[in-house]
Amino acid sequence: MRDLPHFARLSLCRFGIQRRYVALQPVLQLFWGGKVDYLQGFAMSTNRIKASSQLANVRYEIRGPLARRAAELEKAGHEIIKLNIGNPGAFGFRAPETMRQAMIENLRESDAYCHQKGIFPAREAVVMQQQNRGVMNTTAEDVFMGNGVSELILFSLRALLNVGDEVLVPSPDYPLWTAATHLNDGKAVHYPCRRELNWLPDLDAMAKLITPRTRAMVIISPNNPTGAVYPREVLQAMVDLAEKHELVIFTDEIYDQITYEGAEYTPVATLVKHTLCGTFSGLSKVYRSCGFRVGWLSFSGEKDQAREYMLGLDTIMSLRLCSNVVGQWAVQTALGGYQSIYDLTKPGGRLFQTRATVLDGVKRSRYLHVLPPRGAIYAFPGVDLDKLPNFDDEKFAIDLLERKHVLVAPGSSFNVPYRNHFRITLLPDEKTMADVFERMEDLLDEYAAVA
Ligand SMILES: Cc1ncc(COP(=O)(O)O)c(C=O)c1O
Repeated sequence: MRDLPHFARLSLCRFGIQRRYVALQPVLQLFWGGKVDYLQGFAMSTNRIKASSQLANVRYEIRGPLARRAAELEKAGHEIIKLNIGNPGAFGFRAPETMRQAMIENLRESDAYCHQKGIFPAREAVVMQQQNRGVMNTTAEDVFMGNGVSELILFSLRALLNVGDEVLVPSPDYPLWTAATHLNDGKAVHYPCRRELNWLPDLDAMAKLITPRTRAMVIISPNNPTGAVYPREVLQAMVDLAEKHELVIFTDEIYDQITYEGAEYTPVATLVKHTLCGTFSGLSKVYRSCGFRVGWLSFSGEKDQAREYMLGLDTIMSLRLCSNVVGQWAVQTALGGYQSIYDLTKPGGRLFQTRATVLDGVKRSRYLHVLPPRGAIYAFPGVDLDKLPNFDDEKFAIDLLERKHVLVAPGSSFNVPYRNHFRITLLPDEKTMADVFERMEDLLDEYAAVA
C-alpha cells in the first residue's frame, strides 16, 4: 500500500474503494503488478474493529501524519532535517557518563520489579532536590517514579478526573496534557498565553474560565513550545487563583534547569501552601536521556486533604507494577553535584549558540518574528500576516517537508486558535539551523511571489 502512488492511496481510502477492490483488480494488476497482493490484504480488511470513541478528541500531531510522511521520504532516500521533536539523543547529545556508570553498576539489582512508586534512592534524591529548592514537606512516600513524565501525566489525571471534570491547560500547550485530559474523561479548558504578554498567561482571562467543574490547573514553565519562563509574581498569582478555588496544581517542570541569559526558574512548589501541588520532572531533557524513560512526580503543599487521591494514584501505579528499574538507578547520580546542562545553555554552549542562530535567522527574515526563548529547547516563531495574508501553518509544514525537506511542528498542533506559528527545536547545531532558515526563507519567498 505504501508503495502505491500517493493519489492512489488517497483515493482508495477516501472513496472506500476497499470493498470495490475485487472489481478493480485487473486494472490494478496492470498498473502495479506485485503490489496487488498487498492491496488484496487491505481490501479484505474492513473497519470492523473500531478505536475507542475516547480517542475522538485525542491528537498528538508532533508524531502524526507529517512525521509519517517524513519517514516515507527518508525511506525514499531523502535526508530530512527533523526539528519536530525535542529528543536530544537524536542530535548527538549524550547523557552524562556517570549516569550510565550508575546504571551499569546496578544492573544486577535491576532484575526484579521494584515498588510501584520506584526505588528508594531515586525517590529520596528527588526529595533532596526539592529540599534544596526550599520545598520542605515532601517525603519519599510522596514521590512517584514513572516511565517518563508522559506516563505520570496520564496516571495523575486518571486518578483525579470524573466525567466532565475540567482542567485548565495553557494554550499553546504541550499537547499531551490536553490529550490526557480527554482520554481520562475530562475536558481541557485552554487559558490563553498571549504573544503580546511575552507568552505569559492572561490571568484575567484565566480566572473567568474557572467553573464549579474545574479540578486542576496545569502550569508549564519553562514552557514548551514558547520558551517562556514565568516570573515569580505571575506564578504566585496563578497559585493564589488555584488556592482560592481549591484546584490541584500540576506543574510540569521538565525543563527546570534549561534557561538562557539569566532567566530565573521558580519551582512552583515553593509558592504553594493551601492546595495540593504535584511537580513533574525527569531525566529526558536536562540529562539528555529521553530513551531511559525516567520521570517523577512529587507532591507537596496541602497533602492532608489529598490522601484519598494519592492512594488512588498509588493503586494505578501498582496496576502497572513498576517503572523501568535500570533507569531509576541513574537518578541519584544525575541530581547530585555538578549540572552539566549549564555548559550547554551558557554563551558558547551548543543550545545557547543554536538559539542565537535562530534569533539571527528570524532577524534576517522578511516574514518571521519570534520572542527569544528564555528557557526550554524550542522556539515558536510566527509569520507576519501583513506580508503573507494567506499563510497557513499546516500547509507551510507540508510544503517545507515536501519541497525543502525540513520537518517542523505547525503551531495549531499546540491547541491555539491562530494558524501563523510553528515550533522548532533548538537541538541541531548552528550550521544546520542556519541552513534551515535559508530553506524556510526560500519557501516564504515563493509564497510571497504568488500572494
Ligand atoms: C512539557 C513536557 N512535558 C513532558 C514531556 C515528556 O517527558 P518524558 O520524556 O519524561 O515523558 C515533554 C517532552 O517533550 C515536555 O515537553
